[in-house]
Amino acid sequence: MEGVVLDVEVDVAGGLPKFLVVGLPDAAVSESKERVTAAVRNSGFFFPYKKVVASLAPANLRKAGPAYDLPIAVALLACTEQIPKNPEDIILLGELALDGTLRHTTGILPMVAAAVERGFSKIVVPECDATEARLVDGAQVLPFANLTQLAAYLKGEIDTPAVKTDKPIEEYVFPDTLGIDFAFIKGQEHVKRALEIAAAGGHNVVMMGPPGSGKTLLARSMCTILPPLTNEEALEVTKLYSISGLLPTDKPMIRQRPFRAPHYTTSNVGLVGGGHFPKPGEISLSHRGVLFLDELPEFGHALLEVLRQPLEDRIVSISRAQGSVTYPANFMLVGAMNPCPCGYYGDPVKPCKCAPGTVSRYQKRISGPFLDRIDIFIDVPRIDYEKLSDDRLGEKSEKVQKRVAASRKLQQERFAGTRLTCNADMTAAEVRDFCKVDDSAQSLLKAAMKQLNLSARAFHRILKLSRTIADHEGAEVIKAPHLAEAIQYRPRTLLL
Ligand SMILES: Nc1ncnc2c1ncn2[C@@H]1O[C@H](COP(=O)(O)OP(=O)(O)OP(=O)(O)O)[C@@H](O)[C@H]1O
Ligand SMILES: [Mg+2]
Repeated sequence: MEGVVLDVEVDVAGGLPKFLVVGLPDAAVSESKERVTAAVRNSGFFFPYKKVVASLAPANLRKAGPAYDLPIAVALLACTEQIPKNPEDIILLGELALDGTLRHTTGILPMVAAAVERGFSKIVVPECDATEARLVDGAQVLPFANLTQLAAYLKGEIDTPAVKTDKPIEEYVFPDTLGIDFAFIKGQEHVKRALEIAAAGGHNVVMMGPPGSGKTLLARSMCTILPPLTNEEALEVTKLYSISGLLPTDKPMIRQRPFRAPHYTTSNVGLVGGGHFPKPGEISLSHRGVLFLDELPEFGHALLEVLRQPLEDRIVSISRAQGSVTYPANFMLVGAMNPCPCGYYGDPVKPCKCAPGTVSRYQKRISGPFLDRIDIFIDVPRIDYEKLSDDRLGEKSEKVQKRVAASRKLQQERFAGTRLTCNADMTAAEVRDFCKVDDSAQSLLKAAMKQLNLSARAFHRILKLSRTIADHEGAEVIKAPHLAEAIQYRPRTLLL
């Protein structure tokens, strides 16, 4: 996420013809030798029949990916005096095709942002990535289609390429959010209310209920009530998607809050990130949005435990032999589960067929510490015929989203100038400052702490949640009814 500006030097000397890239290159960087050689030749330049050394400095950082093709090629052309020496401080980024075309390169946005932060403004990028690069304020983007065009520009033969600014930047829409709406969900008013509160403050939710009661449907419709990302958040999220290579070149801006629903067979690495050169996992890809874990117990104990630390710290650090990276992982967890393997434990109509031991073993897959991090635990009961056959539509998602956005705005104003964006981000110190409760709420809280044996974490989480409920009403001080609603959302010790 944080870029480093590299110096790329090329030296051509006597000796046996050879092309070396030094400075901890990975396989993709080493292969740039072949691409650069071909691209230089096929663009009408000559490649020296001598020993060529390209050095990427600082040498102690491991370099990965093909973005260094272009600077190596340009340095080589300058070194062999086929183009003038790079006269201004221009940053060069891009992968070369064998014919010299500049290809789409992943991570353009964070790289351009890093360059601008360090005082560089002129940045050469592949033409197809110009829209993505333009998202950074203060960047003077120079898009080129190929090496020949860039060389002509550096020789002063052609003018600064025009950046098409008239076309608005298209936004990326997550494909699985189309065609769902709160209005189509019958009944389940209390669940909708809980999801609305969760969306307003960024709180974690787990829904439990029998098969077919609408848990998956409700969770998926979460993304229709979340407000769009703020500018700052949008840039953060877009950077993460850019690094992961998930950003389509024609729609490089993400404004919608991410909604990720990994399957329960996902590996640890897929979930939290990792790999040879650590990449963001699902928890980082759902940064500032929703991570939806359907069939929660199926994820298994080990995988859920992995989530404990990021759920608390909101970042994840992954260490590998190559070094360690930290990715943001400030997501809202939404889980859905059946109460038992057959699905009908506690159902008033259909009897549960599981042996008692099976039920508790099933629920124990979700550990106490994991549950402690859940703010809202809600039952989703079966809905009866009357409600289901009712033709009247419920409240539209758009309306709910407006309320949620108003609530978030209130929070943003409160947290202006801090790193916090919503109530769920508060730490203990901020809870003390911002979650003022009135007297009646105070005594209710005291009674709840005693009777429900709440942990210190639960205490803070309840206060944060009641802050959101109060905000949602526009109340300044947290009153007893707000607190009471927050307390009843607390996960109970599950079973038996
Ligand atoms: N409240 C509802 N209003 C309208 N349709 C509903 C409702 N609940 C369920 N349905 C219908 O039932 C289908 C199944 O619901 P869904 O997949 O959400 O169930 P589930 O609770 O996730 O079940 P499971 O526990 O088996 O995963 C939905 O696609 C939808 O068509
Ligand atoms: Mg389901």
